[in-house]
Amino acid sequence: PELYEAAEALVPWFRENKRDLPWRKHVSAYRVWVSEIMLQQTRVEAVKPFYQRFMEALPTVQDLAGAEEDLLLKLWEGLGYYNRVRNMQKAAQQIMVDYEGEFPGTYEEIRSLSGIGSYTAGAISSFAFGIPKPAVDGNVLRVVSRLLASEEDIMKVSVRGKIENALEQVIPKECPSDFNQGLIELGAIVCVPNGEPKCDICPLSGFCRAKELGIQNRLPVKKKA
Ligand code: ADE
Repeated sequence: PELYEAAEALVPWFRENKRDLPWRKHVSAYRVWVSEIMLQQTRVEAVKPFYQRFMEALPTVQDLAGAEEDLLLKLWEGLGYYNRVRNMQKAAQQIMVDYEGEFPGTYEEIRSLSGIGSYTAGAISSFAFGIPKPAVDGNVLRVVSRLLASEEDIMKVSVRGKIENALEQVIPKECPSDFNQGLIELGAIVCVPNGEPKCDICPLSGFCRAKELGIQNRLPVKKKA
């Protein structure tokens, strides 16, 4: 029930409050993919210049598939985790061979590409294609744990799976992109970690069980692996 009511308040909040970020303009599967891989390891502000430069150098899947390794590594220098960009190139080559260079349009096809896990597949499917699949990153795990006052360990794969299932039940079919991005954005700018959530400005505070119980500052539970 918390999640269902929250979904209705979240989307209008996101539309009013979303940050103007380069990957939110001219949305395409390729642009979402590149930005989400960069954002997995680096903060939003730091990603911006890397993202712009990457898109200018390699504006399409085809450009990425055919890029020289030197150029790839140079574009990634400063971001670290070079395997991520190598996997991206491998996936781009898979897309050239298996889909004639056109990004595949189903969740399962996207999920099966090299280096794309359930978060990135959910983000591409929902942001670029409007497919109602959740995109659960660390921001979303925190927001949902607080909404439900769940004290389960978010480091557990099974807990992530439960949260994905719960979100799949309430994700609005008509705007999965705004719903998923709303959860990410709320986690990034309002429902922030380190015991300092800004409940006074949160559009979901009225539906938040952690807030109701006064335990929002100690959620989520995150045990060392
Ligand atoms: N963090 C991860 N993905 C993001 C996105 N699409 N926008 C802003 N912050 C993010």
